[in-house]
Amino acid sequence: MQEKQTRDELSADILRSSAEHRHAHELARLRETDTGARPEGWHLSPRAVRRFILGDEALGITRKFYGDDPLVERAIVTLMGHQGLMLVGEPGTAKSLLSELLSAAISGDSALTIQGTAGTTEDHIKYSWNYALLLAEGPSRRALVPSPLYRAMEAGKLVRFEEITRCPPEVQDVMISLMSEKQVMVPELGDDARMHARRGFNVIATANLRDRGVHDMSSALKRRFNFETVRPIADHAFEVELVMGQVRRDLEGAGVQVEVERDVVALLVTTFQELRAGRTREGTALKTPDAVMSTAEAVNVAYAAALEARHFGDGRVTPRELANQLQGVVLKDNADDLRRVQHYFDTVVHERARRDRHWKIFRDAGRALWP
Ligand SMILES: Nc1ncnc2c1ncn2[C@@H]1O[C@H](COP(=O)(O)OP(=O)(O)OP(=O)(O)O)[C@@H](O)[C@H]1O
Ligand SMILES: [Mg+2]
Repeated sequence: MQEKQTRDELSADILRSSAEHRHAHELARLRETDTGARPEGWHLSPRAVRRFILGDEALGITRKFYGDDPLVERAIVTLMGHQGLMLVGEPGTAKSLLSELLSAAISGDSALTIQGTAGTTEDHIKYSWNYALLLAEGPSRRALVPSPLYRAMEAGKLVRFEEITRCPPEVQDVMISLMSEKQVMVPELGDDARMHARRGFNVIATANLRDRGVHDMSSALKRRFNFETVRPIADHAFEVELVMGQVRRDLEGAGVQVEVERDVVALLVTTFQELRAGRTREGTALKTPDAVMSTAEAVNVAYAAALEARHFGDGRVTPRELANQLQGVVLKDNADDLRRVQHYFDTVVHERARRDRHWKIFRDAGRALWP
């Protein structure tokens, strides 16, 4: 199983490999140089985990999560304790990314993941059966099909529970006893057959603050988690660096050659930050669109603009392509959003267009889109 996964992940045409594969060299280097004490079951010391996520120039480790270093430290500390870690926040704030990075660094495995949906059942969380074997041999460990959580307990690893609040409440309730008792009962295998979690096991859950909310979660379950709110990046330079880096990597991965200027990305990030915050950098109040204007969306817009520039333009991203691609982000299902963005173009962008050629291209492209 492990071997097959590795082989699959090595092939070049897969869209996105796991963090432990993408950053295998960095993880290996960290392991070699790691002198810190490792909690039992952990692949790296807490200090090395921090380095993996926040970067270390001397060791050639890249920064992967931007904007809130203390949050990362608290998250690592939580995972050493008895509580699970619950990452909550607006969509696109890198909750899933952070949970993936943490489990790759701590357990060397980010694949033990439950994707929470309205259709998630207790079987998905505990275990189910291979019915052919069950009928042929009766209940046995061989016939039992373990869930990712079961496997994580058995191996002393982290399990990721994505979008936990999307699961029906009775399914969320299953987690309550699992997390306090740290064992799975398997009555089919005998009266007190159970599987005890090894050290190193813990849960990282993520939940979105839009959509179905955290307030629907029972207080019993909430008590079993330490909550961390992941916020959108506030620092302009940081967000520009992140968008540039991510788009470059994505383009490289896709084998597409496009020139992406920092100034053009800076304009995109300014637009996103101002619309997100409802305030321009000069301090003028704005109406914020309901559409999600996260960093993840900014990356998507920049990437799409780069593809447009490559295939329909001259291979150089300008604010024109950004304006074109912005439409798809803002225009989801809300006519008011369109008016809010139009207003932004008519006032803020218009004013800046007088003094700056990039903003002028942006404004002119916006005019064509929103006549
Ligand atoms: N602070 C940040 N540091 C690094 N990357 C970020 C940050 N914020 C956003 N991103 C970018 O956003 C992308 C998507 O993040 P991710 O899917 O993890 O978000 P999410 O919070 O899980 O969203 P959702 O609630 O929609 O599931 C990341 O791959 C990264 O490119
Ligand atoms: Mg997510």
